[in-house]
Amino acid sequence: MKILISDKSSPKCAEILHKAGHEVDEIFGLSPEELKNIIGIFDALIVRGATKVTAEIIQAAKKLKVIGRAGTGVDNIDVKAASTRGIVVMNAPGGNSNAVAELVLGQMLMLARSLYDAAHTMKEARWEKKRFEGTEIIGKNLGILGYGRVSRLLAQKARALGMQVRCYDPKIGKDLVDEASLAVVSSLEDVLSWSDYLSVHLSLREDTQNFISRAQFQRMKRGVYVLNCSRGGIVNEADLLWALEEGIVAGAALDVFEKEPPTDFTLAKHPQVIAMPHIGAATEEAQENVSLIIAEQIADMFAGKGIRNAVN
Ligand code: MLT
Repeated sequence: MKILISDKSSPKCAEILHKAGHEVDEIFGLSPEELKNIIGIFDALIVRGATKVTAEIIQAAKKLKVIGRAGTGVDNIDVKAASTRGIVVMNAPGGNSNAVAELVLGQMLMLARSLYDAAHTMKEARWEKKRFEGTEIIGKNLGILGYGRVSRLLAQKARALGMQVRCYDPKIGKDLVDEASLAVVSSLEDVLSWSDYLSVHLSLREDTQNFISRAQFQRMKRGVYVLNCSRGGIVNEADLLWALEEGIVAGAALDVFEKEPPTDFTLAKHPQVIAMPHIGAATEEAQENVSLIIAEQIADMFAGKGIRNAVN
């Protein structure tokens, strides 16, 4: 089979597919027009987040049988259009979950101790010791929105550091305590008003777009810290700015934006916001994991060993 890898991934990905007898082209940074012109000859396409696999690309992909996402979110792929053409869309969930959970943990500590500002003042040769009295995360309430792999890992790590954790997921909608004793609650209201830290780990869907907007901010504890390392567009950016200005939100950590890269950096530049350029999964380990997982899944599919982690 002929396979195109169109976003930079670990060399292991091409290696595994070569070994399985496939022909692999690694061509990065293609424009939509360039991708459309060449996609017709490929049986499989492997992407990360940069390549936008639109309906137009899928229409031109006459031989395509599978689109593999070396990562979790498939919002850069028109899954509906792929399904219509009988193309399997698969992802590599779990491969980068720990990287994201660790980033959130780091962000919580950054927010609690103003670590960004404290380090930055020293770079400017300023000694502002009195300015930086922070708080501790031990004993604080962490609310997690979305009950998936990242959430469970984050919950485990946060509890090990002495935090209380509650989780809400609109897809679950009932109270339960999972096998790791993590409380999943049926009321969003409950999590919003209880949390000292609120971390968003939902996937971007029609029902999660603007999931956290002004009405939800109004129900939060004053002084809450809000973190989003899932997808831009789930936390309404204009409303977050409003909540920061109103003093409802004491600080926010954002790894994802409605538009990436943002055209408007107002939120990223806000003094109470620490912003990152979507680096949640950017670790050597995570990139190797997801590349390996997706390559093996595609090799197995072509070898008739079944389809794993299909999202359609
Ligand atoms: C994912 O969905 O896997 C992460 O957001 C990382 C990425 O987009 O590569």
